[in-house]
Amino acid sequence: TWTDKGSYPNFLLKEINEQPQTSRAAIGALFSPVAEGSAADWGSALDRSAVKRVCFLGCGSSYYAGQVAASFVENLARIPATAEPAAEFTQRDPVVEPDCLYVLISQSGETLDTLHAHRFLRRHPVQVLSIVNVRGSSLDRESDASIPLYAGAEVSVASTKVVTNMQIAGLALASWLARADYGSKSAALLELDLALPILPTILADLLAGQDAEIRALAESVHAFRSMYYLGRGPSWPVAREGAQKIKEISYIHAEAYQASELKHGPLALVDPDHVSVVVAANDAGGQQSATLIGQIQARGGAVVVFSQHQDYEFDAPTVRLPAVHPLLDHIVMGVALQVFAYHTATILDRDVDRPRNLAKSVTVE
Ligand code: AGP
Repeated sequence: TWTDKGSYPNFLLKEINEQPQTSRAAIGALFSPVAEGSAADWGSALDRSAVKRVCFLGCGSSYYAGQVAASFVENLARIPATAEPAAEFTQRDPVVEPDCLYVLISQSGETLDTLHAHRFLRRHPVQVLSIVNVRGSSLDRESDASIPLYAGAEVSVASTKVVTNMQIAGLALASWLARADYGSKSAALLELDLALPILPTILADLLAGQDAEIRALAESVHAFRSMYYLGRGPSWPVAREGAQKIKEISYIHAEAYQASELKHGPLALVDPDHVSVVVAANDAGGQQSATLIGQIQARGGAVVVFSQHQDYEFDAPTVRLPAVHPLLDHIVMGVALQVFAYHTATILDRDVDRPRNLAKSVTVE
């Protein structure tokens, strides 16, 4: 069952390893033409022709998942999309745009900042959608339209399998929005349809086949006290989530930056006591990543690389991940960074299920 560790030493490792199964469940339902959770279900409550912009709101890892989802919407549907922390949104007395679809994202459905943003939006004449894991939670109950996540109960404080399914839900939403524009399915959507069923297998192969090399990389960084996670484009929110995970469970200071921003300031902290995790998706930026790595090494900084480039060698310890589809690759990368954080934390003997100072759901302001 979801709430029994079984033979795993902790829930975090169990939940990381459930992802082939939970991602398959989400893909099966969210991309089916009819199942509960399909667009036929939540989409019927929305007017997609009225959507000119999308704004994702959530907290912590759910906010970062929203940022990845925003890049999926822009990429597939060519509709401008952004993400913002839910509490910041309500606190700045925002201009609520009538043609913007607001999407609230939450694992628990009980995060007070997210509920406040939802209640605020519901007082305005705008379209609101929720992406929520816990059925019957406050957010779920208060929503007219919500995408369920099919991840099962998540016990460990650090979110893993739910973050992955939030990104799958982002893809489902992006696909639905894209169909509105193109009438029938575009080549990009057909390609995604073909690749999606392979994702759970890719994750299973990664979890079984690359665990040892990711652990070796974790061995090489666990003694550092400060880390950067560097990514560009959609890899930046993936890097942010990677840094969040390592902070939460290993207590190593970690910050994510857009790779291009490093030279504009953060480079000052790079020295032999500092390690950078380069998140290199299989995009056209292989040479840029090589240059970045050189800039860090020239200052004596340590570098480790997670690369999806299939024919590009970096001059630093590298875990090479499969590249299957330009959008799904980000989800695969996210899972690899979870495994990396997990090993780093267990090498440091941390209590990964109950990190200090944190609660599973934050029901206070
Ligand atoms: C994730 O590892 C964290 N525990 C945290 O950032 C979490 O994602 C955030 O508090 C939001 O929770 P929610 O998804 O239940 O709303």
